[in-house]
Amino acid sequence: MTTPSAHRDGQPPLLVVDHISKIFGAVTAIKDITFTINAGQVVALVGDNGAGKSTLVKIISGLFPPTSGRVLLNGAECHFTRPADALHAGIETVYQDLALIEQLDVADNVFLGRETTRFGWIGRLLGILDRDTMRAQTADALADLHIKIPAPTLAVSSMSGGQRQAVAIGRAITWGRKLLILDEPTAALGVEETEQVLQMIEKLRGTAMSQLVISHNMQHVHRISDKIVVLRQGWHVATLTTAETDPQEIVAYITGAKQQTPVAEG
Ligand SMILES: Nc1ncnc2c1ncn2[C@@H]1O[C@H](COP(=O)(O)OP(=O)(O)OP(=O)(O)O)[C@@H](O)[C@H]1O
Ligand SMILES: [Mg+2]
Repeated sequence: MTTPSAHRDGQPPLLVVDHISKIFGAVTAIKDITFTINAGQVVALVGDNGAGKSTLVKIISGLFPPTSGRVLLNGAECHFTRPADALHAGIETVYQDLALIEQLDVADNVFLGRETTRFGWIGRLLGILDRDTMRAQTADALADLHIKIPAPTLAVSSMSGGQRQAVAIGRAITWGRKLLILDEPTAALGVEETEQVLQMIEKLRGTAMSQLVISHNMQHVHRISDKIVVLRQGWHVATLTTAETDPQEIVAYITGAKQQTPVAEG
């Protein structure tokens, strides 16, 4: 497979995952993964437990480097050495193992690392946080999501798994500019909250924000995505156009019952 560098209209894809591999000691977690995400597209990343999905997410979001291969954003190679670099580039990630700080409240978590400071540069220097502004903006962002969220002043340590996940999603939407990565965003959510997250993904679809979504629910994957990348034991085994497939066929690729040879470029 060659490097997909140009989109139909001459623009580079928003994101290119270019021959990425990751080895942890004796474990090769992902092997030679190549695909693209175009502006406004929702790409689903699917595969069984241990297939390498979260590993790929962590590479794109700057948590750790690939062993080989490159990630390109708007045609330029990314050299992220820490998650803050990806955030700065406009990539927001909701990790599967949620990264909220237990001791902080909801608003502090949403604004972590980007706190609004009062009194201009003096405030920034002294680190005086504008808590009222932060709390009001947080309440707005979370209300937009229609997800039942506790007060922004509530400590994360007293929240349920689903509430924490909702806060992490609210934070990602508040700050995301180019790419929103959601690693099993509905895994801890109830039926109603799950539906809200799916509707949010659908609402963002086709806007300036692209999305990479991981899910084990093939009905959801089929509903929300434009394209599906299937991993199996670290290998990229299929690239499917959502409109041309169905949940049963996606499962067949995940389990190995069906093969795509060669793997479609995309
Ligand atoms: N930090 C690490 N050190 C060593 N091995 C790791 C590390 N992270 C992941 N792995 C291994 O890499 C492989 C892929 O794991 P990964 O978490 O990416 O899978 P996944 O597709 O996200 O699975 P799940 O659906 O269960 O979340 C597994 O064999 C896992 O044990
Ligand atoms: Mg995972």
